[in-house]
Amino acid sequence: EKGGYEHFMLKEIYEQPRAILDTYRGRLLSQQGLIKMAGIDQNLEKFQNANRIIIVACGTSWHAGLVAEYIFEDLARIPVEVEYASEFRYRNPVITDKDVLIAISQSGETADTLAAIKLAKEKGAFVFGVCNVVGSSIARETDAGAYTHAGPEIGVASTKAFTTQITVLMLIALKLAMKKGIFSQSKFHEFLTELENIPSKVEQTLKQDKLVKEIAAVYKDSPNCLYLGRGYNFPVALEGALKLKEISYIHAEGYPAAEMKHGPIALIDEQMPVIVIAPKKGHYEKLISNIQEIKSRKGKIIAVVTEGDTSIRELADHVIGIPDTLESLTPLLTTIPLQLLSYHIAVMRGCNVDQPRNLAKSVTVE
Ligand code: F6R
Repeated sequence: EKGGYEHFMLKEIYEQPRAILDTYRGRLLSQQGLIKMAGIDQNLEKFQNANRIIIVACGTSWHAGLVAEYIFEDLARIPVEVEYASEFRYRNPVITDKDVLIAISQSGETADTLAAIKLAKEKGAFVFGVCNVVGSSIARETDAGAYTHAGPEIGVASTKAFTTQITVLMLIALKLAMKKGIFSQSKFHEFLTELENIPSKVEQTLKQDKLVKEIAAVYKDSPNCLYLGRGYNFPVALEGALKLKEISYIHAEGYPAAEMKHGPIALIDEQMPVIVIAPKKGHYEKLISNIQEIKSRKGKIIAVVTEGDTSIRELADHVIGIPDTLESLTPLLTTIPLQLLSYHIAVMRGCNVDQPRNLAKSVTVE
């Protein structure tokens, strides 16, 4: 049932082009120039009149929420707060009936996320679910929702759930941007077209697997690892670090690149691999200076860059190229090599990739 792959995780990484396609299939109607999502269409006013959107989730789903924060604020100009469900539920949060809460959960069974939903509902918020498992508790408890349609995710480490969550949230943001009149028809069209190019660009990114495996062999015995990104790719840095620690048991941390000089840079020496997510977009020049700061302290740089990039190639120890795309869609591509890197390192270290120690696929207790 692993379809010829050695592990479910690898199978699920490779399923992403298809999973992303399945997520927007029937929703993204580029010919008609529209996005159709029943859960949004039927509750459009709730979203349009919302003072803010609060996103609650745990783990990888929380990282997808952080990406969505950039997407919603940047494209749809709606203020967003992203919360760990476990903190939100116990914090006596200020919630009103003008708030929309989006709960993100692959399993739809995460206890803290479910409790956060119940709390928000009691306070009158409209609650929308983004789940993968059809008919799950969270899918039933929310007022409306949109499934990710990623197909079953068996590996404990979440992979295709993450990229499909981002895809669904992107569809919602684009729809709202259009409805609010923020997007012109041509800008909207540009996004729809590029979203449709993503599955083949993910496919192309997966072709870097061999190179990523070679890099994995070099760093598999490192005790620590840092992941850096800015903007849309800051949450990807967090996700890359989580993926490495949970399946390979290597200590890893993700940081916004500019935070380096506020502490973590003290960790840099010739032993420290630093993975920098640096597509040629928004904060590119600033990332180059961050890379220079690390290099001058002899850190090892593994950079995820837009293919054809030459400036970073001169500075980095390794570069992994990804196809060019819109800045807000880069997380769907930059995530892929980080998943593969964790996978190969974990396999090389003899770890049980699909069932890492101490972890469960659904966390149904708090
Ligand atoms: C990481 C991972 C976990 C889950 C988290 C939330 O790879 O799998 O961090 O993302 O337990 O689970 P869901 O999305 O099912 O609510």
